[in-house]
Amino acid sequence: MLRPVTAVYACLLSAVFLSGAAAHAQKNPDLALTPPMGWNSWNTFACDVDEKMIRDMADAMVASGMKDAGYEYINIDDCWHGERDANGRIQVNKKTFPSGMKALADYVHSKGLKIGIYSDAGNTTCAGFPGSRGHEYQDAQTYAEWGIDYLKYDWCDTKDINPIGAYTTMRDALAKTGRPILFSICEWGDNKPWEWATDIGHAWRISGDITPCWDCEHNWGSWSSWGVLKILDMRDALRLRQYAGPGKWNDMDMMEVGNGMTEAQDRSHFSLWAMMNSPLIAGNDLRTMSDATRRILTNKEIIALNQDGLGIQAMKYIHAGDLMVFAKPLENDEWGFLFLNRSNSPLDYTHDWNFFELKDDQFNRHIDFTKVKFTWTDLWKGNNGDTINPLKLQIPANDVVVLRLVPKK
Ligand code: GAL
Repeated sequence: MLRPVTAVYACLLSAVFLSGAAAHAQKNPDLALTPPMGWNSWNTFACDVDEKMIRDMADAMVASGMKDAGYEYINIDDCWHGERDANGRIQVNKKTFPSGMKALADYVHSKGLKIGIYSDAGNTTCAGFPGSRGHEYQDAQTYAEWGIDYLKYDWCDTKDINPIGAYTTMRDALAKTGRPILFSICEWGDNKPWEWATDIGHAWRISGDITPCWDCEHNWGSWSSWGVLKILDMRDALRLRQYAGPGKWNDMDMMEVGNGMTEAQDRSHFSLWAMMNSPLIAGNDLRTMSDATRRILTNKEIIALNQDGLGIQAMKYIHAGDLMVFAKPLENDEWGFLFLNRSNSPLDYTHDWNFFELKDDQFNRHIDFTKVKFTWTDLWKGNNGDTINPLKLQIPANDVVVLRLVPKK
């Protein structure tokens, strides 16, 4: 007679235990409902990071108008680390961060901003500092005590580690802290995270590292870094968009706007990242950026495409030689349209709206332009028109025209 009772009791106990565990075992559901926006140190500073520069960057994010435009996170990438102490607790590099991470987080928070940090699922980070392997719960707890709001979690030194297991462990460790910490997966798309990470992270990189060029690949031997068009083309945009949405974004990497490309290339880069619902994480020096760079990064109409509440990534609508057209469903039956000239010479193109029916089978949206008419606004130039008349475009080399379409009443 005792046996069944014991079995029932054991079942109950494990149910209680499992539900206790389940309460922690989810990513924070309230974060990244629109793509995260912020700044990250890596593209400009690599390992040359210190607390004064990070504080200055927080100041510049406010002074430049970027905070007002929606940018929120100040993210420190690799190389902030010191050693682990005798208890295994990770320390900051005391030379470059003498006041400690908590004081820096307090400063960033005092500006009305949030702070992000970087670690790695392996034993060492890509720059050779201590990774979180075997210290996941301890590190997450330390980050929470410091007041960290965002974790980018890299994939170096991970031979024989299962990516789903490793990223799930850190997700659970972050959840256990009780602090809302956005979890950004960075394994470069190698293990197709879009197929398994939607319940694990808030964004996942889909490519190797970006570099500030239009259509180049820099081959470093065992890995490459990629220009803007290379990242755009790397994964089939149509296939990946089905996995993304509020709280789960395809991350095309931190931006290179202001890092040496032409103004047209920067404008295209920014517009494409916005349309694709990539996180908008600036990677330039905010303290010294030109007016042209600042205007690109703070174009509120382009940002509004990215931050639209529907959270639907743009689809590839037309690809004909050097011309690509992307369409993005927006709230209230509005649409974003991006016309990209990939080539190094100007492109003349007349778009007859009535000629191309638009079908988005993945998100079940459809426009027959012969029946529904829209007005449009050019989000870079400010001029207006409608879809009754063909659209005559002259797109300079490597440039874009981006429109918002609103249904005519
Ligand atoms: C790479 C990552 C970069 C940067 C770098 C730091 O793996 O893709 O964005 O974080 O590591 O070492």
